[in-house]
Amino acid sequence: MSDELARQLAAIVGERHVQAGGDIAERYRIDISRKYSSTPAFAVRPGSTQEVVAIMKLAHAAGVPVTAIGGQSGTCASAVPANGGIALSLERMNQVLEIDRLSMTMTVEAGCILQIAQEMAEAQGALLPLDLGARGSAMIGGVIGTNAGGNRVLRWGMMRDMVLGLEAVLADGTVLSSLTKMLKDNAGYHWKHLLIGSEGTLGIVTKAVIRLRPLPTSRQTALIACPSFEDAIGVLRGLEVTLSGRLSSFELMWGDFYEAMTEAQLEQRPRPMPLGHAFYVVVEAMGGDEESDSAQFERSLMTLVEDGKVVDAVIAQSDAQREAIWAVREDMTPGLAPRRPFSSYDVSMGVGDMPAFVAAARANVLAAFPEAAMLFYGHAGDGNLHAILSVGETSKDIQRSFDTAIYDAVRQVGGSIAAEHGIGTTRSAYLSWARSEAEISLMRTIKAAIDPTNILNPGKVLAPLA
Ligand code: MLT
Ligand code: ZN
Repeated sequence: MSDELARQLAAIVGERHVQAGGDIAERYRIDISRKYSSTPAFAVRPGSTQEVVAIMKLAHAAGVPVTAIGGQSGTCASAVPANGGIALSLERMNQVLEIDRLSMTMTVEAGCILQIAQEMAEAQGALLPLDLGARGSAMIGGVIGTNAGGNRVLRWGMMRDMVLGLEAVLADGTVLSSLTKMLKDNAGYHWKHLLIGSEGTLGIVTKAVIRLRPLPTSRQTALIACPSFEDAIGVLRGLEVTLSGRLSSFELMWGDFYEAMTEAQLEQRPRPMPLGHAFYVVVEAMGGDEESDSAQFERSLMTLVEDGKVVDAVIAQSDAQREAIWAVREDMTPGLAPRRPFSSYDVSMGVGDMPAFVAAARANVLAAFPEAAMLFYGHAGDGNLHAILSVGETSKDIQRSFDTAIYDAVRQVGGSIAAEHGIGTTRSAYLSWARSEAEISLMRTIKAAIDPTNILNPGKVLAPLA
């Protein structure tokens, strides 16, 4: 059967685009967390929607699971394929097909890397606003599959808010194509919203039409320090008003996160600001008039300094300084290295509930592991926090204790266990901590209706029923 399937897959995509068994490259078996690995039977690289259709028809007939593979920058195993299944990589379908400057849209294939799509938009005087640290590896299909957020959500929304049209292939090979450019389209149920954020469990995204925005011509970036969480949120709410809607990023870092990241980066660059503050924030605004935007930005920060909400501020005076400020927040690999193995979390709650969540999470974790190290940071404007927990070793029991400590605290503030990274397999056991029985039952009904033989990324989002 396996040989026959190999032959049929090769007939669809060409022999050099099929890998089998032990020859399958590592990148088709893992995600960035490197915690989860699998042994798929095949990795295939289709070059067109029609080839995806043919693969799905084959897989459907044979009852073989299929997982869409993108840049593998996920953290919760959403795109780690099923053992014995097919890893279907979209990497060859990587073209920007059209940029329509009148409609302000980009039509793009799912395997296009986010940063390339951003740069293609920029070359045409347009902004693709979705932005995140993994921009250099994440693919369009993946950021749609997870409904990715990142660092500009407070201004332009998540991926869901930018997808105008979608093309996807269903489990049985049916193509759903609605590559439309309209903002307003309410002709019945919007299936695209079911697929966005479904982590490849309802269909394989092959193309999308993405809404573009006018390209800002001015950009102001600062690192600021705040004495308390309340002050930091006071700054956020103040800047939303004084920057007249231009505030684009507000990335909050607890003091110990700032210390850990800058410590590890000292060989590359000095600390942009001394240690010792309770909170640090990367603030960025974008607009259309460099002179007046810069003046407005400086004035706004000065007022906040006078109010005592900001106790230190560094405004980038060059692109190099801007990059150095952003690196503190985004260049996390060196800072996290000494903390490996660690568990990472992606939770959300009302912005005002974040201190209560952090206090409860810290107390829960320390009750279980008095020696645990914890770092908190996140997209404060979205109520989205990330946490890194480590105790120097890892085991299923430690993982479970960490999960319980964090998700208990999330539940206490009525938050969500998954903000922008997805559920995958690592969080599926906790879905009921954020969703009711009725909601999960509806999800299962939808999944069963669209993928009755459960071949699309099985076991992700919805844990197998006992
Ligand atoms: C981020 O905000 O840096 C990303 O979501 C990645 C992460 O925190 O793991
Ligand atoms: Zn994030």
